[in-house]
Amino acid sequence: MDDFQVPVYSSSEVIEKLQMKWQSVGAGMRKKSYAAMYSSFFGGITIDPAMMTIPIDDHMVHRGHGVFDTATIFDGNLYDLDSHLDRLLNSARLAKITPPFPRHVLKTILVKLASVSRCREGSLRYWLSAGPGNFSLSSAGCSESTFYAIAMQEDHEPRRSEVMQGVKVITSTVPMKSSIFATIKNVNYLPNVLSVLEAEQNGAFASIWIDDQGCVAEGPNANIAFITKTNHLLLPSFKKTLGGCTANRLIHLASKLVRTGVLEGVTTKDITVKEGKECNEMMFVGSGLLIIPIIAWDDHPIGDGHVGDRTMILYDLLWDDMKNGPGRQRIPVSYN
Ligand SMILES: Cc1ncc(COP(=O)(O)O)c(C=O)c1O
Repeated sequence: MDDFQVPVYSSSEVIEKLQMKWQSVGAGMRKKSYAAMYSSFFGGITIDPAMMTIPIDDHMVHRGHGVFDTATIFDGNLYDLDSHLDRLLNSARLAKITPPFPRHVLKTILVKLASVSRCREGSLRYWLSAGPGNFSLSSAGCSESTFYAIAMQEDHEPRRSEVMQGVKVITSTVPMKSSIFATIKNVNYLPNVLSVLEAEQNGAFASIWIDDQGCVAEGPNANIAFITKTNHLLLPSFKKTLGGCTANRLIHLASKLVRTGVLEGVTTKDITVKEGKECNEMMFVGSGLLIIPIIAWDDHPIGDGHVGDRTMILYDLLWDDMKNGPGRQRIPVSYN
């Protein structure tokens, strides 16, 4: 017999072990970054990372029956929270999850969580799940749907110089999700994970999905945009990809650049790989990263192989919107 010891702990011993684990494994970093968690399962907020747990029979854990979203905390404000909440609720509807609370309560919880977390720079990530109850496929036996949210401390220091380096991408060989699963922001990110690992193994930043018609789809956690030779901002339509809140905001803001002549126009349409590779500039667009310029795709340089001016103008546009955008874009968090 193997002499591996499997202890059986009391509840208080488990709590003690979890807290010790967080002190050692977290090495300060993780502990600090996970500032607060809300769980509808215990009906409140904890700031102890060791208690930031969810039930193992929650269908989000063992069946992937959950949806999620994120929102950025920037300079003590929640940026574009309403768009992210709308998308969360739409994802929940399509995934047949009835939230445990109405929209305004979910929003109140998220603002309160940001406040308790004391994070002035960071992000919120939140999940709606079919909930715990059993290990079946059907959610019929789930006692209640659940809402979980975590506030994370992160640095949003201007990273313009870092962004200006640009990144390389490859075409993913990992099959992309079919449109019904790609358009719901659900917790099944295995294809996204595998495509990132593939990119990393090939010395690239990320992989890009091409759809079954040979058109550009999206990256593993970001949408894609181009600047054409005729100076148009071009994005793949969102029929087969996640409708990005950042991409939608960018499309809205970029109309200013059309008025001032910086861009000729803004278009969403199907974009073939050839068309994409012939563009002057290419970029990832997403809420975690804002904009990341892409300078090479499958070793093919995009434009002159350097970060384009228009890409950086769009980056600055989004950055300014996070910092100084209109009130409805930025919900102030009270830290008193
Ligand atoms: C697959 C995928 N596409 C696109 C995006 C960009 O969406 P957003 O701008 O709302 O972050 C994300 C990020 O959430 C994503 O995971």
